Amino acid sequence: MSWQAIGIFDSGVGGLTVLREITKALPQEDTIYFGDTARVPYGTKSPETVARYSREITSFLVRRDIKLLVVACNTASAVALNGLKREFPIPVVGVIEPGARRAVAVTRSGRIGVIGTTGTIKSSAYTRAIKRLKPDACVLTRACPLFVPLAEEGWTDNQVAHLAAQAYLQELKDAGVDTLVLGCTHYPLLKTVIAETMGPGVTLVDSAEETARTVAEILAKKKLLRPAVENGNHHYYVSDIPAGFIRVGNRFLGGRLEDVYQVDLDNDGEEC
Ligand code: DGL
Repeated sequence: MSWQAIGIFDSGVGGLTVLREITKALPQEDTIYFGDTARVPYGTKSPETVARYSREITSFLVRRDIKLLVVACNTASAVALNGLKREFPIPVVGVIEPGARRAVAVTRSGRIGVIGTTGTIKSSAYTRAIKRLKPDACVLTRACPLFVPLAEEGWTDNQVAHLAAQAYLQELKDAGVDTLVLGCTHYPLLKTVIAETMGPGVTLVDSAEETARTVAEILAKKKLLRPAVENGNHHYYVSDIPAGFIRVGNRFLGGRLEDVYQVDLDNDGEEC
């Protein structure tokens, strides 16, 4: 079973930031990534719709015999994780719990900011996860929907990005948070601008890094780690034509994306 792949899914290309951290931490593991590029964004959709999409994708990946599932999308983690854990017989890891754990570990004042999509912020999933670990924490949240298209466009360090960061983050800065959780797959790409806006006293928490650590821990505990003899293979599935995914994905991964296949989830995951 240790030779099976790790399944990872996201609403689109953003989850590649999580994949990147997983392959850094566990280079020997095979991965199968699904990006729901035909139905992105999830951040503006209802929890019911996101939960349905998440179930469909998980069924597809489970049929490909994965040993563990990573829900890389923060919005899907926020609204669909518990259902997936109940429904599917494999370990399911989301990005909210690891991000919350890290935030609680690094905060000094207990004033923690969380930014994410409208869906993630509305769900209060990060607030609940942080409060479970540190009941006296003061959690301040802000949806930053424009960060997603900025990251996809590659506008991560220009004037527009700086203005958007200023408009979204000033309130959290004024409120004196000392820790800020980047609660969306795309936000690690805007780390420089976000760090400059928040100032040197604020620690940024990247859920992707912490999630990779959690995956490594679970696989080690369950004795499912693949022996480190060679580097793993990586396969990518998308629900729309692959061109856009490849173009933006290369920027996200900083490399060359190969083996990207379009599949039709309505047709049993048949390749198109
Ligand atoms: N992947 C989503 C998330 O992390 C961001 C993009 C979207 O809205 O689908 O919440």
